[in-house]
Amino acid sequence: MVERYVITTLLLSFISFSSIVFASSSSSCSSIAGLPLVRNISEIPQDSYGRPGLSHVTVAGSILHGMKEVEVWLQTFSPGTHTPIHRHSCEEVFIVQKGSGTLYIASYSHGKYPGKPEEHFIFPNSTFHIPVNDAHQLWNTNEHEDLQVLVIISRPPVKVFVYDDWSMPHSAARLKFPYYWDEQCSQESSKDEL
Ligand SMILES: *[C@@H]1O[C@H](CO)[C@@H](O)[C@H](O)[C@H]1NC(C)=O
Ligand SMILES: *[C@@H]1O[C@H](CO)[C@@H](O)[C@H](O)[C@H]1NC(C)=O
Repeated sequence: MVERYVITTLLLSFISFSSIVFASSSSSCSSIAGLPLVRNISEIPQDSYGRPGLSHVTVAGSILHGMKEVEVWLQTFSPGTHTPIHRHSCEEVFIVQKGSGTLYIASYSHGKYPGKPEEHFIFPNSTFHIPVNDAHQLWNTNEHEDLQVLVIISRPPVKVFVYDDWSMPHSAARLKFPYYWDEQCSQESSKDEL
Protein backbone atom coordinates (compact mmCIF):
# COMPACT_ATOMS: atom_id res chain seq x y z
CA MET A 1 0.00 0.00 0.00
CA VAL A 2 2.77 2.35 0.98
CA GLU A 3 4.66 1.49 -2.19
CA ARG A 4 1.63 2.17 -4.33
CA TYR A 5 1.19 5.54 -2.59
CA VAL A 6 4.83 6.45 -3.24
CA ILE A 7 4.59 5.47 -6.90
CA THR A 8 1.37 7.45 -7.35
CA THR A 9 2.93 10.49 -5.67
CA LEU A 10 6.02 10.23 -7.85
CA LEU A 11 3.88 9.90 -10.95
CA LEU A 12 1.76 12.91 -10.00
CA SER A 13 4.81 15.04 -9.27
CA PHE A 14 6.35 13.98 -12.59
CA ILE A 15 3.17 15.02 -14.40
CA SER A 16 3.05 18.41 -12.70
CA PHE A 17 6.79 18.87 -13.30
CA SER A 18 6.34 18.16 -17.02
CA SER A 19 3.46 20.59 -17.26
CA ILE A 20 5.63 23.32 -15.67
CA VAL A 21 8.40 22.59 -18.18
CA PHE A 22 5.88 22.59 -21.02
CA ALA A 23 4.31 25.84 -19.81
CA SER A 24 7.67 27.63 -19.54
CA SER A 25 8.75 26.48 -22.99
CA SER A 26 5.62 28.09 -24.43
CA SER A 27 6.23 31.38 -22.52
CA SER A 28 8.24 34.32 -23.83
CA CYS A 29 11.58 32.68 -22.83
CA SER A 30 12.04 30.42 -25.80
CA SER A 31 14.30 30.02 -28.79
CA ILE A 32 13.21 32.10 -31.76
CA ALA A 33 13.55 28.90 -33.81
CA GLY A 34 10.67 27.46 -31.77
CA LEU A 35 8.36 30.40 -32.53
CA PRO A 36 6.19 30.70 -35.64
CA LEU A 37 8.21 32.31 -38.44
CA VAL A 38 5.57 35.01 -38.96
CA ARG A 39 4.13 36.49 -35.77
CA ASN A 40 1.45 39.07 -35.06
CA ILE A 41 3.04 41.90 -33.03
CA SER A 42 -0.34 42.55 -31.37
CA GLU A 43 -0.12 39.10 -29.81
CA ILE A 44 3.47 39.32 -28.49
CA PRO A 45 3.49 39.97 -24.71
CA GLN A 46 3.96 43.61 -23.72
CA ASP A 47 4.70 45.09 -20.31
CA SER A 48 5.55 48.39 -18.65
CA TYR A 49 8.22 46.77 -16.42
CA GLY A 50 7.09 49.06 -13.63
CA ARG A 51 7.53 52.27 -15.68
CA PRO A 52 4.18 54.08 -15.87
CA GLY A 53 3.28 55.03 -19.44
CA LEU A 54 5.72 52.61 -21.10
CA SER A 55 4.76 49.66 -23.24
CA HIS A 56 7.72 47.50 -24.22
CA VAL A 57 7.65 44.53 -26.59
CA THR A 58 10.78 42.50 -27.23
CA VAL A 59 10.10 41.57 -30.85
CA ALA A 60 13.30 39.50 -31.16
CA GLY A 61 15.64 39.24 -28.19
CA SER A 62 18.92 37.74 -27.15
CA ILE A 63 18.11 36.47 -23.66
CA LEU A 64 14.44 35.90 -24.53
CA HIS A 65 14.85 34.23 -27.90
CA GLY A 66 18.54 33.48 -28.45
CA MET A 67 19.27 36.20 -31.05
CA LYS A 68 23.05 36.56 -31.47
CA GLU A 69 23.78 39.82 -33.32
CA VAL A 70 20.77 42.12 -33.05
CA GLU A 71 17.75 42.70 -30.88
CA VAL A 72 14.52 44.49 -31.85
CA TRP A 73 12.06 46.29 -29.55
CA LEU A 74 8.79 48.10 -30.10
CA GLN A 75 8.25 50.76 -27.46
CA THR A 76 5.39 53.16 -26.83
CA PHE A 77 5.67 56.15 -24.50
CA SER A 78 2.53 57.92 -23.31
CA PRO A 79 2.59 61.76 -23.29
CA GLY A 80 5.16 63.15 -20.86
CA THR A 81 7.00 59.85 -20.30
CA HIS A 82 10.65 59.21 -21.10
CA THR A 83 13.60 56.88 -20.83
CA PRO A 84 16.22 57.38 -18.13
CA ILE A 85 19.41 59.21 -19.14
CA HIS A 86 21.61 56.27 -20.09
CA ARG A 87 24.39 54.91 -22.27
CA HIS A 88 25.35 51.52 -23.68
CA SER A 89 28.24 50.22 -25.73
CA CYS A 90 26.15 48.98 -28.65
CA GLU A 91 24.86 50.61 -31.81
CA GLU A 92 21.20 51.61 -31.69
CA VAL A 93 18.85 52.70 -34.47
CA PHE A 94 15.36 54.15 -33.95
CA ILE A 95 12.48 54.46 -36.38
CA VAL A 96 9.62 56.67 -35.20
CA GLN A 97 6.40 54.91 -36.14
CA LYS A 98 4.04 57.50 -34.70
CA GLY A 99 3.99 60.56 -32.49
CA SER A 100 6.77 63.02 -31.86
CA GLY A 101 9.10 64.04 -29.10
CA THR A 102 12.61 65.11 -28.19
CA LEU A 103 15.91 63.26 -28.28
CA TYR A 104 18.49 64.60 -25.82
CA ILE A 105 22.01 63.43 -26.55
CA ALA A 106 25.49 64.29 -25.25
CA SER A 107 28.29 63.02 -27.47
CA TYR A 108 30.77 60.87 -25.62
CA SER A 109 33.82 62.92 -24.90
CA HIS A 110 36.79 62.64 -22.65
CA GLY A 111 34.97 64.80 -20.13
CA LYS A 112 34.10 63.32 -16.77
CA TYR A 113 30.32 63.63 -17.29
CA PRO A 114 27.90 63.95 -20.23
CA GLY A 115 27.26 67.70 -19.89
CA LYS A 116 24.50 69.75 -21.52
CA PRO A 117 22.82 67.59 -24.18
CA GLU A 118 21.86 68.58 -27.72
CA GLU A 119 18.11 68.57 -28.37
CA HIS A 120 16.63 67.10 -31.53
CA PHE A 121 12.99 67.12 -32.57
CA ILE A 122 11.83 63.67 -33.65
CA PHE A 123 8.69 63.23 -35.76
CA PRO A 124 6.62 60.53 -37.52
CA ASN A 125 8.73 58.53 -39.98
CA SER A 126 11.96 60.01 -38.69
CA THR A 127 14.97 57.85 -37.91
CA PHE A 128 18.10 58.43 -35.85
CA HIS A 129 20.98 56.44 -34.45
CA ILE A 130 22.76 56.66 -31.13
CA PRO A 131 26.55 56.45 -31.39
CA VAL A 132 28.19 53.88 -29.10
CA ASN A 133 28.39 55.15 -25.49
CA ASP A 134 26.69 58.52 -26.08
CA ALA A 135 24.46 59.35 -23.10
CA HIS A 136 20.92 59.94 -24.32
CA GLN A 137 17.29 60.23 -23.31
CA LEU A 138 14.07 60.04 -25.28
CA TRP A 139 11.00 62.05 -24.18
CA ASN A 140 7.48 62.09 -25.48
CA THR A 141 7.12 65.87 -25.31
CA ASN A 142 3.88 65.80 -27.32
CA GLU A 143 1.08 66.05 -24.79
CA HIS A 144 -1.58 64.82 -27.22
CA GLU A 145 -0.20 61.59 -28.64
CA ASP A 146 1.73 58.41 -27.84
CA LEU A 147 5.27 58.18 -29.21
CA GLN A 148 5.99 54.79 -30.76
CA VAL A 149 9.46 53.70 -31.84
CA LEU A 150 10.99 50.60 -33.33
CA VAL A 151 14.46 50.08 -31.84
CA ILE A 152 17.28 47.92 -33.18
CA ILE A 153 20.40 47.33 -31.09
CA SER A 154 23.59 45.45 -31.88
CA ARG A 155 25.54 43.11 -29.61
CA PRO A 156 22.73 42.06 -27.26
CA PRO A 157 21.94 41.62 -24.42
CA VAL A 158 21.99 45.36 -23.67
CA LYS A 159 24.11 46.52 -20.71
CA VAL A 160 22.71 49.86 -19.62
CA PHE A 161 24.49 52.49 -17.51
CA VAL A 162 21.98 54.87 -15.92
CA TYR A 163 22.67 58.53 -14.93
CA ASP A 164 20.66 60.59 -12.42
CA ASP A 165 21.35 63.78 -14.39
CA TRP A 166 23.60 65.18 -17.13
CA SER A 167 26.31 66.21 -14.67
CA MET A 168 26.70 62.77 -13.06
CA PRO A 169 30.22 61.43 -13.74
CA HIS A 170 30.43 58.58 -16.30
CA SER A 171 32.19 56.54 -13.63
CA ALA A 172 29.22 56.94 -11.24
CA ALA A 173 26.55 55.81 -13.74
CA ARG A 174 24.93 52.62 -12.43
CA LEU A 175 25.04 49.40 -14.43
CA LYS A 176 21.59 47.81 -14.78
CA PHE A 177 22.14 44.28 -16.04
CA PRO A 178 20.19 42.31 -16.93
CA TYR A 179 17.90 45.13 -18.07
CA TYR A 180 14.26 45.06 -16.90
CA TRP A 181 12.81 43.10 -19.84
CA ASP A 182 15.63 40.56 -19.72
CA GLU A 183 15.34 39.83 -16.00
CA GLN A 184 12.77 37.04 -15.98
CA CYS A 185 14.42 34.96 -18.69
CA SER A 186 17.94 35.45 -17.33
CA GLN A 187 16.74 34.03 -13.99
CA GLU A 188 15.18 31.08 -15.80
CA SER A 189 18.28 30.42 -17.87
CA SER A 190 20.57 30.61 -14.81
CA LYS A 191 18.24 28.13 -13.03
CA ASP A 192 18.56 25.83 -16.04
CA GLU A 193 22.33 25.87 -15.62
CA LEU A 194 22.13 24.59 -12.02
C1 LIG B 1 -3.26 40.36 -35.03
O1 LIG B 1 -3.71 40.39 -33.68
C2 LIG B 1 -4.76 41.35 -33.44
C3 LIG B 1 -5.02 41.34 -31.94
O2 LIG B 1 -5.25 40.03 -31.48
C4 LIG B 1 -5.97 40.97 -34.27
O3 LIG B 1 -6.99 41.95 -34.07
C5 LIG B 1 -5.59 40.94 -35.74
O4 LIG B 1 -6.69 40.52 -36.50
C6 LIG B 1 -4.42 39.98 -35.93
N1 LIG B 1 -4.02 40.02 -37.34
C7 LIG B 1 -4.06 38.97 -38.10
C8 LIG B 1 -3.69 39.17 -39.55
O5 LIG B 1 -4.35 37.85 -37.68
C1 LIG C 1 7.90 56.97 -44.50
O1 LIG C 1 8.78 57.30 -45.55
C2 LIG C 1 8.82 56.38 -46.62
C3 LIG C 1 9.90 56.82 -47.61
O2 LIG C 1 9.56 58.07 -48.17
C4 LIG C 1 7.45 56.27 -47.26
O3 LIG C 1 7.44 55.31 -48.29
C5 LIG C 1 6.42 55.89 -46.20
O4 LIG C 1 5.12 55.88 -46.74
C6 LIG C 1 6.49 56.85 -45.02
N1 LIG C 1 5.61 56.34 -43.97
C7 LIG C 1 4.79 57.13 -43.29
C8 LIG C 1 3.98 56.47 -42.23
O5 LIG C 1 4.70 58.32 -43.48
